[in-house]
Amino acid sequence: MRTIAVLTSGGDAPGMNAAIRAVTRMGIDKGMKVMGIERGYDGLINGEIFEMTRSSVSDIIQRGGTILRTARCEEFKKEEVRKKAVNILKVFGVDGLVVIGGDGSFTGARLLSKLGVSTIGLPGTIDNDLQYTDYTIGFDTALNTVLDAINKLRDTSTSHERVSIVEVMGRNCGDIALFSGIAGGAESIIVPEKGMDIEDICKTILEGKREGKTHNLIILAEGVGGAEKLAKHIQEVTGIESRATILGHIQRGGSPSAFDRVLASRMGARAVELLLEGKSSRVVGMRGGKIVDDDIDEALSMPRTFDENLFDIARALSY
Ligand code: ADP
Ligand code: F6P
Repeated sequence: MRTIAVLTSGGDAPGMNAAIRAVTRMGIDKGMKVMGIERGYDGLINGEIFEMTRSSVSDIIQRGGTILRTARCEEFKKEEVRKKAVNILKVFGVDGLVVIGGDGSFTGARLLSKLGVSTIGLPGTIDNDLQYTDYTIGFDTALNTVLDAINKLRDTSTSHERVSIVEVMGRNCGDIALFSGIAGGAESIIVPEKGMDIEDICKTILEGKREGKTHNLIILAEGVGGAEKLAKHIQEVTGIESRATILGHIQRGGSPSAFDRVLASRMGARAVELLLEGKSSRVVGMRGGKIVDDDIDEALSMPRTFDENLFDIARALSY
């Protein structure tokens, strides 16, 4: 293995830059040439590929986003387009590819590996929706961003004695809502894995008011429904002023936390080692504090499980 390449794909996540840096510097340290591919699979099929040096990744470990940019590339779902990608990698002499992204990007990487390209995936997504790994790169930073918003909203909703509904990301996965809800002391947490019982939520709000609660924080994962609609409904049923805040893309930006920087550095280094060991079609993760790797097919087919115990703890601590 003499030349490897790295790309970021799908939604960006804080810590992607730390992962790019780790792949680049570890690759160079091992005597390899490292190429950066811009704009994910889109840049790959358009040959937007350039050589990375140690200095091309300096001063990025603390930056959010991705210096390689990211994109969604529908065309990559077509086999002929992926074959074109394989030829482009050959032209640039690339023997191994590191893909940093979520499950969609991993599917693209899996299909590329079936065409003979050695690929390794690194989990870069704030959603923490990949079952094979305890943590994805970006999740911890996003949680802290949400927590900062919750703390601020708590101040103002207490002053005004309002209900505050905070809509967070996670279309199919409630981890951001669950973890930030626990950390922020939310009264209710609504996640796609459990659905929503509006009447129960209204009951909790009214009970809280009777017991002297001056605010009520509800964390809603985007996959369950709209925050504005929920606020309107709660206000109608409880008679308490209710406001919605949709955090949106703010959750994807910002300087990565120490945890995400270290996680990305460890995972990036492991990806290079795996390529050097001649491995392909693997994804790097973390389980029980250890860096692990799994077959990409197996990782993608693991059914998502929801932490029911943590959800029960959140409920018990919420009133
Ligand atoms: P994420 O990687 O964050 O889950 P997406 O689901 O948007 O993000 O996927 C990112 C990119 O991965 C897509 O734009 C596409 O280029 C590629 N991809 C996703 N699904 C497939 C698929 N079934 N076949 C080939 N490529 C795919
Ligand atoms: O990165 C994952 C994610 O943040 C999801 O939680 C969200 O639904 C989606 O990306 C939104 O991405 P975009 O607005 O870029 O399409």
